[in-house]
Amino acid sequence: SSNAMWGGRFAAGPDAIMEAINASIDFDQRLAAQDIQGSLAHAAMLAAQDIITDADEKAIREGLLTVLSEIEAGDFPFSRALEDIHMNVEARLRDLIGAPAGRLHTARSRNDQVAVDFRLWVRDQCDQAEAALTALIKVLVDQAEAGADAVMPGFTHLQTAQPVTWGHHMMAYVEMLARDRSRFVDARARMNESPLGAAALAGTGFPIDRDATAKALGFDRPMANSLDAVADRDFALEFLSASSICATHLSRLAEEIVIWSSAQFRFVTLSDRFSTGSSIMPQKKNPDAAELIRAKVARITGALVALLTVMKGLPLTYSKDMQEDKEQVFDAADTLMLALAAMTGMIADMEPRRDNLRAAAASGFSTATDLADWLVREAGLPFRDAHHVTGALVKMAEDKGCDLPDLTLADMQSVHGDITESVFDVLTVEASVASRQSYGGTAPDQVRAQIARWREALA
Ligand code: ARG
Repeated sequence: SSNAMWGGRFAAGPDAIMEAINASIDFDQRLAAQDIQGSLAHAAMLAAQDIITDADEKAIREGLLTVLSEIEAGDFPFSRALEDIHMNVEARLRDLIGAPAGRLHTARSRNDQVAVDFRLWVRDQCDQAEAALTALIKVLVDQAEAGADAVMPGFTHLQTAQPVTWGHHMMAYVEMLARDRSRFVDARARMNESPLGAAALAGTGFPIDRDATAKALGFDRPMANSLDAVADRDFALEFLSASSICATHLSRLAEEIVIWSSAQFRFVTLSDRFSTGSSIMPQKKNPDAAELIRAKVARITGALVALLTVMKGLPLTYSKDMQEDKEQVFDAADTLMLALAAMTGMIADMEPRRDNLRAAAASGFSTATDLADWLVREAGLPFRDAHHVTGALVKMAEDKGCDLPDLTLADMQSVHGDITESVFDVLTVEASVASRQSYGGTAPDQVRAQIARWREALA
């Protein structure tokens, strides 16, 4: 049979394979609520502009609300033959209200319809990402506060570098995730313009009111160019881009948790709620949630690359290629929300092991920089000379199989005669972190000041 929406031009229905490649209803049914919201706004505007009668608008409105409740109740007969969510809803509306249903599509095309539906959906996801990030930031600030003065090794090249505090390390992720959050907020602000009323591509001859539909749908204004309105998917790309960067940050934190929870590091204990066991090795407690978060970024960045690749080279305006936008964005959004929720739960439950953190911080000559700085300050050496002297002392400690504070004053003076007893004051990890008072540094006072700033911002 020929198609109900465009059957006038067609003598035969589609091949089964054509239907299989063409239909999007299996996934775009997720846009049902947005599709109906857009249609309600469009119909109200058509009536206000006297393009349709008030009676037709009332029939359309009531019919659409019935369709919505059918979909929400899970007893809507989705049909692949009807291709997508837009035509499924309209066909059902016609079953319910008859002739007035045919007037809903006046001054509209599926091109501006799908653009508005998808924008509303992605806009909502930006809001959800913002909320989920806020929740994660809060548990990180809690962790930071509890361990503001817990000393741990700071790393570069995953080699012990200088002592830092657990609180400082947690707050580094707060800064990263807050930038992620602001990217979603920025993207939302930029995408918040309405494509509705662009119609197929050129606008319409009907006296529509695009400001009214934009306002009704919570957009700041209508998009200024009808060709751009139906051709643009950069709002989805921006969401995927923000999601990819955020997922990359989650992946880095997840990797640290995997390392920290290992028997070799023993920096943290993960809760049973976010760990799994082994079916053969009874001693195992595996950080599966962290590993999966570390991996999920692949799907999200994959979605970004996929949609960038779909969009590149597409001529204006709409091409059916763009139907490939939705599955990527749906999957990326679901994946990001799950990863954020898992990370939030894992961080909330995670317990830093202070003794192990401190012991690790005190090994690996982590206060060598403090010794060099002491030589600059107290013995007046140029930093490069101080570096050289300290290097010789590290070598001596290494040869003796001890750490820097375990060397005797005589050992020290054999390398440089101006070293005095007071050098030992700067060689403890507590003294080291306490001395890092520069703005943004790891001193517990500085960390607590940053925590206080964030507490206020989050309140
Ligand atoms: N299902 C289509 C999509 O997702 C809706 C738009 C169809 N427009 C068209 N001119 N065929 O892109």
